[in-house]
Amino acid sequence: MNKNETDTLAIVKPDAFGSGKAGRIIAHLEGAGFRVVAATVKHLTRPEAQAFYAVHRERPFFDSLVDFMTSGPCMPMLLRRENAVPELRRAIGATDPAEAEDGTVRALYAESKERNAIHASDSPENAEIEISFFFAGTDRLSG
Ligand code: CMP
Repeated sequence: MNKNETDTLAIVKPDAFGSGKAGRIIAHLEGAGFRVVAATVKHLTRPEAQAFYAVHRERPFFDSLVDFMTSGPCMPMLLRRENAVPELRRAIGATDPAEAEDGTVRALYAESKERNAIHASDSPENAEIEISFFFAGTDRLSG
């Protein structure tokens, strides 16, 4: 691991994974300089989705978000590059694809503000929490 590299978490969400967009999204992120250090395919249970998105539990869209995130398999990935957290946020674009900059993952592949193709950690602190959620025990020095 290059000393300037950091890690972040992405999830290819059920809308994108289920419609066969995972490969294109991974290729897009690799083209933006990210390396996939670990990945898995997982169908989240309701308790898992509720726990992962606990920070949003008071939001009006929470139950719908949990329904969506448990509607099919998703693909959590541990991604690495320099400045990984802000660079991934930049590469995926705004939450609402209608507001996402041209060429971003959400502009290209998202359906709506909820079914928005991909999740990315919003801070280095949350990246560590979210990486542990899916990849506790993964060898972070490899790759
Ligand atoms: P994500 O970046 O994973 O973080 C929280 C998720 O909640 C977000 O992407 C969307 O999938 C969803 N979300 C955020 N805001 C809204 C909203 N206003 N209506 C519906 N879903 C939302």
